[in-house]
Amino acid sequence: MSRKPRSKTRKLQLQSLSILGVVAVVCAAAYFFFFQPASLLSKTAETQTIPESSITKTAHADFPALFNVVETAEHTTTPFTLHYVLTGKALPDALLKDYIQQLKESYIQTADFTGSNNLVLDATVIPYQDAFYSFTLHKRILQQDVQVSSETKYFFYDATAEKFVTFKQLLNHEEDKLATIVALLRQTVEQNSQYDHLVNAFFMQPDYVPTWRDFERFTLANDALTFTFATNSTPALMDIPLPTEKINDLLREAYQLPLPKMANVVPADYVLDPTKKRVAITFDDGPSPTVTPQVLDTLKKYNAKATFYVLGNKVEESPELAKRIVDEGHEIGNHTWTHPNLVNLTDEAILDEYTRTTNAIIQATGYTPSTFRAPYGSINERVQNVVPLEAVMWSIDTLDWKHRNPNATVNIVNANLHNNAIILMHDIHQPTANALDRVLANIQAAGYEMVTISELNLYID
Ligand code: NI
Repeated sequence: MSRKPRSKTRKLQLQSLSILGVVAVVCAAAYFFFFQPASLLSKTAETQTIPESSITKTAHADFPALFNVVETAEHTTTPFTLHYVLTGKALPDALLKDYIQQLKESYIQTADFTGSNNLVLDATVIPYQDAFYSFTLHKRILQQDVQVSSETKYFFYDATAEKFVTFKQLLNHEEDKLATIVALLRQTVEQNSQYDHLVNAFFMQPDYVPTWRDFERFTLANDALTFTFATNSTPALMDIPLPTEKINDLLREAYQLPLPKMANVVPADYVLDPTKKRVAITFDDGPSPTVTPQVLDTLKKYNAKATFYVLGNKVEESPELAKRIVDEGHEIGNHTWTHPNLVNLTDEAILDEYTRTTNAIIQATGYTPSTFRAPYGSINERVQNVVPLEAVMWSIDTLDWKHRNPNATVNIVNANLHNNAIILMHDIHQPTANALDRVLANIQAAGYEMVTISELNLYID
């Protein structure tokens, strides 16, 4: 045998062996890669699983419709302590549990396994009326005792319907109501220096167009609807509460607080009679201590009902007159605080005029006005969107403020009288009070009933 072929053969054998070796290593690697034998990787696998937890569920001490849940996992690297709320109802609880599960999963996925981690969840429950609850679930993740992330999740629960309610549903899907919300928020930020951190918030931008998504973080309580916004400074988040009386009209009726309404605008025993003719007499710009009492006395003489569009600042000066108007069965309406031309004002200023007046009327009479008239009848779409009540105009203008002549007032009403008329007068001018006896006598003689605006609306709407 020659050495040459032998050596050649040996060389071949060696090459085969090394090829086999490489193949074996690749196979082994592939085997580990694809099958991950538990024995070798168990340490990592174990730490990447959500730890076993113990759950305590107890009836909520304050709210019978709810359960308090405490879920804890004692674990060396990824423990957690979760306080949350369940409703005992399948659908809402499925949603809540899903949120909790996602929370735990993302906590484990982002955990730092070189040291200690912690996940803490705190729950707050804010009741609204008897069967609504705002839940806020506040999450914090810590690594080496330093907070690395936090988030608050907001839920609004209707315990009667056994479902969660979105802000869009709360406002009955009426997108134009967001303009009022934005105006109220802007007003709050502009008038209170404590909200200076929010002067550049998205809703403060002049060209901002409201969308439902921007108002998901809210709680509703009996005293306020509160939104939470990011500030881009410290504190990172700020709450803006909007008093319930300012937003109650915006809510879908099922969610409204039963605030006192004008008790005697439309008496409970009021009988609709479409065969009768009727007019609504309105008096603007009062109440006046010198003129309004005479007007009220004359209305009483004819058993006539009228509507008074009062100015908030005058109600504040003469609350007893506002009270007398309501006590004698008349309607009281909002005519703003300072009688400005509203189309020239900002949304915030319009709302300020409106809400201050409504609050003064509530304070003086105990009732919320349910009718509004814009000063000078000056209204546009923007103003109407900001003001929660529809603006009421008139069909007979006596021009009493201009001519100050009782005969002219009487003649203008006589010449224009028609069914469902709305007559405009002002209870701040003495000649108007002096004309009223004849005006009412003529209306009555012509066979018209004298009703409030809200009563008249029953026939027109
Ligand atoms: Ni006026």
